[in-house]
Amino acid sequence: MRKIIIELNSLEITAAAARIIASDLFAGAILLLWGKMGAGKTTFAKSLCAGLGVLPEIVTSPTYTLVNIYHGKMPVYHVDLFRLTEQEQLDDFDRQDLIAEQGVTLVEWPEFIPDYLTDEPVLNLCFKTVSENQRQLILQSEFSNFDTIFKTLEQPILSLLKGAANLDKDSA
Ligand SMILES: Nc1ncnc2c1ncn2[C@@H]1O[C@H](COP(=O)(O)OP(=O)(O)OP(=O)(O)O)[C@@H](O)[C@H]1O
Ligand SMILES: [Mg+2]
Repeated sequence: MRKIIIELNSLEITAAAARIIASDLFAGAILLLWGKMGAGKTTFAKSLCAGLGVLPEIVTSPTYTLVNIYHGKMPVYHVDLFRLTEQEQLDDFDRQDLIAEQGVTLVEWPEFIPDYLTDEPVLNLCFKTVSENQRQLILQSEFSNFDTIFKTLEQPILSLLKGAANLDKDSA
């Protein structure tokens, strides 16, 4: 099990962390975004999607459906299960309705999703509100598929910001 805690002391740092993580994602990766209302899950998802080649403007929490599908350099499924109150409400959904096998899946309010998953690579991201502009992000995974992400995030925050700026330049 790998675990790292990052202080997201500004929106810029949140965006940079998301861009860095996006640059090492792969088809089949599942990111579970934990945290209370306003903790920063969707804000993080927007930058992560930008890093995957999706226009951040179109990234909003799914309202009328449980999942939004975006087309970036690979498909991105953005699931939000906030309104679910029971596991049974997921029974009408097939796995492939919620999980992008050929792309990246992001799940906000993932409380009911783990029963759905078998052995696919999951990265847990838990957002905590510290103050108005500060969040803490705890990343955890049992899967070695995410080792590069953990290694990169162990670098000092300044190098991360610089790294993210370079990624922006590359994709411009
Ligand atoms: N360092 C930070 N990182 C992320 N968001 C921040 C930060 N500082 C302030 N914020 C603000 O916190 C809010 C987070 O809202 P967001 O919609 O991303 O939360 P959420 O976790 O998706 O909530 P919900 O469960 O209601 O969907 C935004 O208004 C964002 O601008
Ligand atoms: Mg949200």
